[in-house]
Order: sequence, then C-alpha cells, then structure tokens
Amino acid sequence: MPSKAISSPIAGPAKAALSALSSTQIAFLQRLPKAELHAHLNGSIPLAVLQDLARDHAARCASPSTSDIVVSGIERLQAGVQLDQIGDFFGLFPAIYALTATAPALRRATRSVLEHFLDGPAPQVTYLELRTTPKENEHMTRREYLEIVLEEVERYTAEQAALIVSLDRRMDGEVAEHVVGLSAQLRREGRRVVGVDLCGDPMAGDVTVFSECFSAAKDAGLGVTLHIAETEQNSAAETLQLLSCGPTRLGHATFLNDDAKKVVHTDEMCIEICLTSNLLCKTVGTLDDHHIRYYLAHDHPIAICTDDVLPFRTSMIGEYALLMAPKPLGLALTEQEIARVAQMSMDSRFRVA
Ligand code: IMP
Ligand code: ZN
Repeated sequence: MPSKAISSPIAGPAKAALSALSSTQIAFLQRLPKAELHAHLNGSIPLAVLQDLARDHAARCASPSTSDIVVSGIERLQAGVQLDQIGDFFGLFPAIYALTATAPALRRATRSVLEHFLDGPAPQVTYLELRTTPKENEHMTRREYLEIVLEEVERYTAEQAALIVSLDRRMDGEVAEHVVGLSAQLRREGRRVVGVDLCGDPMAGDVTVFSECFSAAKDAGLGVTLHIAETEQNSAAETLQLLSCGPTRLGHATFLNDDAKKVVHTDEMCIEICLTSNLLCKTVGTLDDHHIRYYLAHDHPIAICTDDVLPFRTSMIGEYALLMAPKPLGLALTEQEIARVAQMSMDSRFRVA
C-alpha cells in the first residue's frame, strides 16, 4: 500500500477550529475510529494532483477555449472559492471534469483521493465510502469509468474502502436506470459497490423520475443515500417524495419540516453532516444555527463528512475539530460526545454482504 498522502491546503472554518486545539486534542481526534461516508470523488482531488493533471491536459489539448476553462477553474480553486449561493458551487466542476476525462487521469485522481483519506502515518479515517457519478465520454463508457474507480478502491480491504455510485439529478430516467443496473451488475460480479446516491444541483431535475431506480437498487442489496432538502427552496413535497423511496442515509437534510423529521426518526435514517460545506455554500449561517445541534440533542444517528475537500479546503480532522473547538469556532463537544458521533459513523456504513 502506498504510504504518501497528498492533501489540499486547509483554510476557513476548519483551519480556525484546528488552530484552537492543543496537540493532545488533535491526537485524540486522529486516533478515533471514524468513517467518511459522504465524499465526492471529483470534489476531493488534492489540489497538487489537479495542477499536475492540468499540465498534462495543456500539453495534449488542442482547443484553447477548453484550456481557458481549466486554467480559470484551477485559479479559482487555488485562490479559495467564494460562493455567493450554492448554485455557484456546481460551476466549478466542468474544469475538473475536463482533467479527469481520460482513463489514466481518472485512475490517478481516484488513487490520490483514496491515499488522502486512508494512507500516511495518521490516516484521516478508518473507512471511506467514496462516491462518484459515472461519466461517459469519447474515452470511456460508464462501465469502464466505474471499473477504473473500483480497481483503485479494491486495492484496499473491504474494511477500509467501498464505492457508492451517484445518480445526478439532471439524469433522465433512462440513464438513471442504466446506472443503477450497472451498479447492481457490478455488485453481482463481486465488485465493491455498496450503495447508490442522488446528488447534483439541488434545484435541478424532477426527483419522481428516480423512485423506481432506488427500489431496484434496494432489491439488488445496495444501500441508498440521498442528498435531500439541501436548500430552503427544495419543496416539502419533494422531500417527502424522496423519503418515500426508503433511503437509509440522507445527505445534508438541512431543511426538514416536522413531517419529514418524523419519518427520519422512525426509520432512524443517518444524517450525513457536512459542516464546512453548508457554511461555505451559505445554506447554514453559523455553526450555532446548524441542524447538527438538533440531531445531537435527539441522539439521532449522524456521520461527520467532508463532502468536497478540494473547494471547501477542509479535511476529516478539520470537520471533527469543528465539533471540538470552543465556541464560536466550534461546537465545544466533549471527548465522550465526539467519540459517540464517530461511532455512529462507523455504525452507519453500507456493508458488503
Ligand atoms: P463526482 O460525482 O465524482 O463527479 O463528484 C462531483 C459531483 O458531486 C458534482 O458534480 C455534484 O453533482 C456532486 N456534488 C458534490 N457536492 C455536492 C453537494 O453538496 N450537493 C449536491 N451534489 C454535490
Ligand atoms: Zn454531497
């Protein structure tokens, strides 16, 4: 197993929280067994690797306009992205996708993300469920995309790493069905696909298109996690529609009304909490206003996750530092409370049967 792990620089809320902790407290956070259950592959590539991929891309790219998108995208990531609203965030991805479009680039990106989370003298996490949306282009089919990612995931043990296949809210029913079918097929072939996800611009698409896909995924033994109620504009009807698909975990779940909360409590759906992501995308104003406090107060299962360490310039230790740091930099939880939260993340893994 490679031992080097390249990381993106940390900045913003996670850095401020970390700098308020003693080395003993940081060592405590590092030692805790914890699972990263919500990390998007193309949002988690270390900046240095992306810069390398950009150099390779410039050397082979014939179209100056594509190069411009890539160069300005990397410059934005390097400077630290400022997001006025969550919609701005999705504009970052075309540049990244241009860089991970070939098989060798996708392999390199995936390997570096796995190394970032799992390798080195003080690994960020014990277990990683990496997620990604399979893309089809002139270099590969969706199946080939998933096979490359799986080959990298499977260099680690099943106790360390697994794959969640994402559906994008912009997909039409036919593509979504194809992607879930592929995921089920790969699982039948013994590959380490453990679940499916619904992600993408929270205002895009019509979620009713995906209901049958999620029930097919469950029939195939796959876990289901859904980005849900990420913005105030996501309607209560949409949220209830997604909950009716019977997910076992939820991404963000920031704006749930009482009816939705009732379902979430009854079915004990684990909430994947991404503190920095929510603060930077401005769906939550301050840590004190964050819905994590509601779930902590109800001792409801949660998992602390990073979402996209590249644009959000955070890390798993940084997110746990936000739990531990004194207010207002963090939530001032005790070691015992933090250990309980970490255990909840381990208990909420989608397991390979
Ligand atoms: P990929 O699936 O590996 O390409 O990872 C990047 C993709 O993840 C983006 O294009 C989005 O569709 C999705 N994504 C990343 N972060 C978020 C989020 O906070 N909400 C919804 N979708 C997200
Ligand atoms: Zn996400």
